[in-house]
Amino acid sequence: MCGIVGYVGRANKAQEVILSGLERLEYRGYDSSGIAVLTNSKLECHKFKGKLSVLKDFLSNNTLNGNVGIGHTRWATHGNPTNENAHPHINEKNNIAIVHNGIIENYLELKQMLIENGYVFKSETDSEVIVYLFDMYYDENLLNTAFKVRELIRGTYAIVIIHNDQKEEFIAMRNEAPLVIGYGEKENFVASDITAILEYTKDISFLDNGEIAVVKKDSVVVYDKNKNMVEKEHTTINWSLEQATKCGYKHFMLKEIHEQPSDIRDTLNSRIDKSGLIKLDDIKLTESDIKKFNKIYIVACGTAFNAGCVGKYIIEKLSKIHVTCEIASEFRYQDPFVDENTLTIIVSQSGETADTLSALRLAKRKGSRILSITNVVDSSIARESDDVFYTWAGPEIAVASTKAYTTQLTAFYMIALNLGLYNKTLSINDYKQYIKLLMQTADVLQNMLENTDEEKQIANEIKDSTSIFYLGRLVDGQTAKEMALKLKEISYIFAESFVAGELKHGPIALIEKGTPVIALSTQKNMVEKMISNIQEVKARGAYVIGIGNEHDKALQDICQKFIKIPNIDDLFMPLVSVLPGQLIAYYVSDLKGYDVDKPRNLAKSVTVE
Ligand code: F6R
Repeated sequence: MCGIVGYVGRANKAQEVILSGLERLEYRGYDSSGIAVLTNSKLECHKFKGKLSVLKDFLSNNTLNGNVGIGHTRWATHGNPTNENAHPHINEKNNIAIVHNGIIENYLELKQMLIENGYVFKSETDSEVIVYLFDMYYDENLLNTAFKVRELIRGTYAIVIIHNDQKEEFIAMRNEAPLVIGYGEKENFVASDITAILEYTKDISFLDNGEIAVVKKDSVVVYDKNKNMVEKEHTTINWSLEQATKCGYKHFMLKEIHEQPSDIRDTLNSRIDKSGLIKLDDIKLTESDIKKFNKIYIVACGTAFNAGCVGKYIIEKLSKIHVTCEIASEFRYQDPFVDENTLTIIVSQSGETADTLSALRLAKRKGSRILSITNVVDSSIARESDDVFYTWAGPEIAVASTKAYTTQLTAFYMIALNLGLYNKTLSINDYKQYIKLLMQTADVLQNMLENTDEEKQIANEIKDSTSIFYLGRLVDGQTAKEMALKLKEISYIFAESFVAGELKHGPIALIEKGTPVIALSTQKNMVEKMISNIQEVKARGAYVIGIGNEHDKALQDICQKFIKIPNIDDLFMPLVSVLPGQLIAYYVSDLKGYDVDKPRNLAKSVTVE
C-alpha cells in the first residue's frame, strides 16, 4: 500500500522528517519512493524505482533544504514500478507537486479532458491527473483550487499538495483513504499512517471523508464537504510503534480482514466506465479471442486455488464456458488438455509462487493464452502472462491470506461478466444489474464487519476442539474449503471441509458427540439438501454452527448456533460468506495465544517447489 508523509515547520527539517517517515512505512511494501521539497529557489522533486535506500543515497549528496515537503512510497497499481510512475507528480511549470494514495476512478475521463487542454502525461498512473487539475484550476489560492479539484475527482484518495508560490503551507485532502494530521511545536505533519510521524508527535487528529486541511507550521484549518471550517477532535496516541503499524488492530490479519470492503471497491470501481460497463484495461482479449476458447483452466495454489474454485462456478454460471480448476503443483506434472483454444487463468497473490509459475510456463508452451490475476505489479507471473488483472488489495502482510482472496473473487466476477457479455450468455441489462449488485456487496461486507461478537463467541466455544468439520454444497463447498484452510493454518486444529452430500459415503464415521461442524448454506436451491445433511450429523452428536441467509428460518432453527448472512443475490454470496470463517479462524488462533500473523511452518511467498 502506498505511504504518504507531509511536513511544514522548522528550517531545513523537511527532508529529515519525510525520509524517517517513509522508512517507518516500509513495512507496508512499496516499489518506488520520492520526495518534493520547497527549497529557497524552487520546488525540487526526486523519485526512484526500487528501495528507499536509492532515494536516501541520492539525497545524501544532494540535500534538499526546505521547511515544507511531501514524500511517498508507491505500491504499483496503475502502471509498473518505474521512475516516471513514482510520486510525487509535478506539473510542467515545476511549481506544484502532489502525492496520492488510493484510486481516482474517473481518471480516464479526466485524462482525456486534460489532454484536450494540452497537458502531456509522463506516467501511466491515475494520480498524474491530480497535479494537472491543480495546475489548470490554480487561482493563486491553493485551498480554492483544492475545493474545485475535489468536485472533479471521484474515487478513494489521500492527497497532499505543495505549491512553490505558497511556501508556508501544504494542503491535505481525503476520501476513503486514511490521512492523519500530527500537531507539533512550530511544526505540523500529515501521514497516511500514524507510524510515520509517531517519533515526532503523539497529538493527532484524523481527517474525515471529504475534508480538506490547510496545514501551516503554527495552524491547521480543516474544511468539510460544504467548505465550512470544522474543529477537529485531537487524540493522544499511546500506541507503541509496533501497535501503530497495525493501525491499532491487534494483528495484521485482523486489519486486512477489515480492509476487504475498501480493497474490493478499489479493485472494482475504477474499472467501471461512465456507461456502466467493465473496462478491463490490462486485458487485451477481443471478442473473437473469447469466441475461440472452448475451455478455461484455472491454476493456482492454496487460497488462490480456493478462489479459483469459486471462480469456476462464477465463470460457468455467467459465460457457460467449461472450466477446470487445478492445483498448480499437480498441473505442472500432468499432460493437461491445454491448447491454443484454451484460456488459462493463473491466480497468485504474490505473483512469485514457484509451482504456479511453472504451471503458467507449461500452459504457455502448449499454446494457451495466459491471463493472470495477481496482486503484485511486475511480478514474475505478471511479466510472463499475456494479460494481467491486478487486484488492488495493497500488500498482504499476514501469512494467512484474506483480502487477496476476496479481491481475487472480485476479479473473477468482473472477468466472468465480460466473458458472459461477449459470449452473449448475458443480456446487457442483466450484466448491468449484476455490476450494481457486485458494487453493493462491498457495503454488505462492511456492515457485517461492524459486529463480530458472534464469531468471537463461537471461537471461544470451539477453540479446544481437536477436529472441526466444514460442510457445504456446490459453491458453498468451495468457500468451506477456504474456511477450513484458514482455521488449520493459524489455529493448528485439524479442520477439513467436506462436500455435504459425500458425508454418508465415509466421513460421517468421524463425527462424535460434540464434534463442531460448521455448515455453510447460502444457495437457495440447496437449503433443503443441506438441512438433511445437518440432520445426519446432528443425529450423530455434532454441534452444528450454521452460516446462511438471514431469511432461512428452517435452516436457522435446526442449527445450535447460526451466523446470519444478509439476503443478497446467491451469485455474490461467496464474497461475503467467507468472512465468518476468516473471523472464526482469527479469533481461535488469538484466543490460543498463537502468533496469528506468522503461523508455524508457513511462508508468505513460496518460491520453491
Ligand atoms: C493461505 C495462503 C497460501 C497461498 C498460497 C499461494 O492463507 O496464503 O495458501 O494462498 O501459497 O500463494 P500466492 O497466491 O502468492 O501464489
